[in-house]
Amino acid sequence: MKNIVILISGRGSNMEAIVNACQREGWPARIAAVISNKASASGLQFAASHGIATAVVDHKAFDSREAFDAELARVIDGYAPDVVVLAGFMRILTEGFVRHFEGKMLNIHPSLLPSFPGLHTHQRAIEAGCKLAGATVHFVTPELDHGPIVTQAAVPVLSGDTEADLAARVLKQEHVIYPQAVRWLVEGHLSIEQGIVRHAQGASQVRWGD
Ligand code: GRF
Repeated sequence: MKNIVILISGRGSNMEAIVNACQREGWPARIAAVISNKASASGLQFAASHGIATAVVDHKAFDSREAFDAELARVIDGYAPDVVVLAGFMRILTEGFVRHFEGKMLNIHPSLLPSFPGLHTHQRAIEAGCKLAGATVHFVTPELDHGPIVTQAAVPVLSGDTEADLAARVLKQEHVIYPQAVRWLVEGHLSIEQGIVRHAQGASQVRWGD
């Protein structure tokens, strides 16, 4: 059984999708813990109500990013993680932290990377006149919202879309591709060569949503 540790900062709908898929599909893994940097993260309640260990490491209690990351890494390591999943975890991570979990830490970002790293991705895509938007699951590297791409889902940007419309359309796809990517990593199907991620059995790493 592999141990998955999920980090959240808010509602945790991606975390929910991963918890549900792990249970429903009988992955050779368990969600060992859900950890938040905010005690108010509503996703913590979902995790606790599913019998999953939860922890809070409040970034405001630390003087520096390094001190916060060191404590966060210590707490995560306490659950002997095989896979660490960032699911709406809204903290910039230090290089030391990222290197510590390199190769086993995934993130989901709500854009078709390398377009639109950072915040407000949907609004920026609408303002740029993009006809496609989407989400990307990638391995975490020290550079924010970069790192080898595991899978991407694309959706259309429709005329008249508000930021909320597009966010909802993308989120629906996030809930499909993120559990799938985590499962691939848990089951050892992924390899990275020169920054390119391949699936051993050639599973499609592309999803078209509507
Ligand atoms: C998602 O859109 C994810 O792509 C981004 O933050 C949001 C988190 O949503 N990184 P949730 O907490 O998983 O519902």
